Amino acid sequence: MRHFLAETDFSAAEVADLFALARRLKRERGHHERPLAGQTWAMIFSKSSTRTRVSFEVGIHELGGNPLFLSKNDIQIGRGESIADTARVLSRFVHGLVVRTYAHSDVTELAERGSIPVVNALTDYLHPCQIYTDAFTAAERWAGPDGDLFASLKGRKVAFLGDTCFNMANSWILGAHVFGMSVSLGGPAGFEPTAEIRDAAAKLGAQFHYTADPREAVAGADLVYTDVWASMGQEGESAERAQRMMPYQVSEELFAAAKPDALFMHCLPAHAGEEVTQAVLDHPRSVIFDEAENRLHVQKAILATLAGLRS
Ligand code: CP
Ligand code: NVA
Repeated sequence: MRHFLAETDFSAAEVADLFALARRLKRERGHHERPLAGQTWAMIFSKSSTRTRVSFEVGIHELGGNPLFLSKNDIQIGRGESIADTARVLSRFVHGLVVRTYAHSDVTELAERGSIPVVNALTDYLHPCQIYTDAFTAAERWAGPDGDLFASLKGRKVAFLGDTCFNMANSWILGAHVFGMSVSLGGPAGFEPTAEIRDAAAKLGAQFHYTADPREAVAGADLVYTDVWASMGQEGESAERAQRMMPYQVSEELFAAAKPDALFMHCLPAHAGEEVTQAVLDHPRSVIFDEAENRLHVQKAILATLAGLRS
């Protein structure tokens, strides 16, 4: 059974094919194949979502399937039914699961105990649908309309600023390895990449650079990226994090320290005036809304690939 729980679940060659498929599905929106025809995919969400929920619901529908949204309070998992039993029961009804939750072990357990494909729609550890979309969005710019999307990523540098010990930073560490990119993380002492991601990177042979100096992180970067300082579940730490992470705010000045043609990205939602200024969000080289739109096309390619469709 094929799942998509981490950036490394597809090989480089498969990601190259997946990006080509995403570009085709984007161009042929409204008249492409419907590989999920007759299928129902359940979406179990334990955290809030705008982009992920809407893009998956629309995407499953456009691939011919039926999305079934289940907040954790709608199902017995919210009252303590085990992950293992939930996985086995849902496997009797639906054809796949899209899951947004806290512990990454919950998505791996759903995948292990069920008998249907599971897609990670964000955990505290990783957000792989977002990172594939980010790489695709950058590649659209770097490869142009007819160029090789995946090949255009090779050797490019991404700088990630702010909270360097949570899901988006972790996903860039794994994603950059798959895409052939380099990654430099700039964040405050005490928020360095965790032992868990360091171990995972070491096992893969994935290189990354961490520095407490934001200018060092962005020097030579092709892509500057940030995320909220207090993620979902960390709201109680907002004030302390804001104070520690302010030197890593992506301002016009810090953005200008990257390459002159660097792109700016943010997974959104953004807190303007905190991790990024409004001027950078609105900058001509900010591609945040292309990035949001592409969640639809790339996730459709992920689902279609799991269903056996190729570019
Ligand atoms: N970027 C992202 O995953 O957004 P949502 O939390 O709105 O889904
Ligand atoms: N790091 C953020 C990402 C939201 C898309 C969070 O987990 O809340």
